[in-house]
Amino acid sequence: MTLKAAAVPTTLSVDLDRAVLALSDALDFIGVDEIGHGHRVALMAAMCASALEWEPERIHLLVQAGLMHDCGVSSTREHRAIINELMWEGEHAHCDRGFGYLGAVPPLAHLAPIVLEHHTPWEQLCHRGVDENVALIANLIYLVDRADAVRSRGVAEGRPVVDILSRYEGSHFAPELMAVFREEASREAFWFAQEDPTLRERVVELAISGDPVLLTMSEIKALAVMFGRIIDAKSPYTERHSLGVATVAIRLGRHFGLSAMALDMIEVSALLHDLGKLRIPDELLEKQGPLTADERRRMARHAFDTFEVLRRVFGDGPVAQWAAFHHEYVSGHGYPFHREAVNLPLEARIIAVADVLQALAQRRPYRQPLKPEDIVAILDGMVFGGKLDRDVVAVVKADLDTYWHDAVAQEGAEPSQ
Ligand SMILES: [Fe+2]
Ligand SMILES: [Fe+2]
Ligand SMILES: [Fe+2]
Repeated sequence: MTLKAAAVPTTLSVDLDRAVLALSDALDFIGVDEIGHGHRVALMAAMCASALEWEPERIHLLVQAGLMHDCGVSSTREHRAIINELMWEGEHAHCDRGFGYLGAVPPLAHLAPIVLEHHTPWEQLCHRGVDENVALIANLIYLVDRADAVRSRGVAEGRPVVDILSRYEGSHFAPELMAVFREEASREAFWFAQEDPTLRERVVELAISGDPVLLTMSEIKALAVMFGRIIDAKSPYTERHSLGVATVAIRLGRHFGLSAMALDMIEVSALLHDLGKLRIPDELLEKQGPLTADERRRMARHAFDTFEVLRRVFGDGPVAQWAAFHHEYVSGHGYPFHREAVNLPLEARIIAVADVLQALAQRRPYRQPLKPEDIVAILDGMVFGGKLDRDVVAVVKADLDTYWHDAVAQEGAEPSQ
């Protein structure tokens, strides 16, 4: 059978507000059983800010920062620590990481200084003379973030939460912010609003403002690299996985003569293919030995979760599909969509092969990285079993060293130009 490349659009239209909103869902997945933290922080902060009569543009900035504030956290273990402790040593590590991630994405770089300071006590912000606008937004996020953490630990909404945070008034939280929070949090309505479906509906209204801000392809790629890094930071075993898959996929795409647009899109898809893995607890991702039926189901849904987030950023066309089909088999027996071969475009097959190659070339909890010759035997077995595309695997085998180095390369973290 001749491999057919998919028909690709001539432009990729991505609106910044919608992308931030959809990707914040992926970040909120990290809570696993306690999802929605970023949404609640954004909404609580916006409710306090409108009581303070902040300008709409400033509230929009606050909401964006609220949705992205914990982008430096990838692991479910670290997320648990953040929710279970009020203040703890090392809390700034995720602020520094978030600052680094956001600073590298031009349309989000203005959020970086806010995210950097979202666990900095108010006294320190004043002492260091941090820009007043940044300081107030960061401190408001800090305050409602801790309110959500305290409530998630089982402290009753309203007065009990306020009483705990009031101990830190002046030292950690700005008195004017504490005053407005005290007022807002005394109303049941403030807490009722933090529950779905109200939470989601209000956050959508707050996050999508006015005219769309369409991103250029290099901005889209920078955003995809940022989320690729977040996904890869989830476990030491997946370090650089998404970046390696993207590097391999681009080279394969070139070999098959894909257009420049299709190459850009395959790069973005490859960087984001494991987005849904943010929802898998670290313990399960690193589990050695066989999985139970329930654990297998949890693992299998990651490609579906990838699709659900990406269709909201890119629509349900090629980018979302190529990314989400990385566990589909040419036999039609893959998961979770069970696509038939005829509905599995070349680009999806390329990402599937690149994914397997990168994973085999990397250390896993249960084994060392495999050598090229062992990888070939496994790839051949997967072709024989109807899992991977024969022609794509043949291209990898013909230039194995190059592809193997692409998969594990330590350089090349930047998006292609
Ligand atoms: Fe945080
Ligand atoms: Fe947080
Ligand atoms: Fe993967």
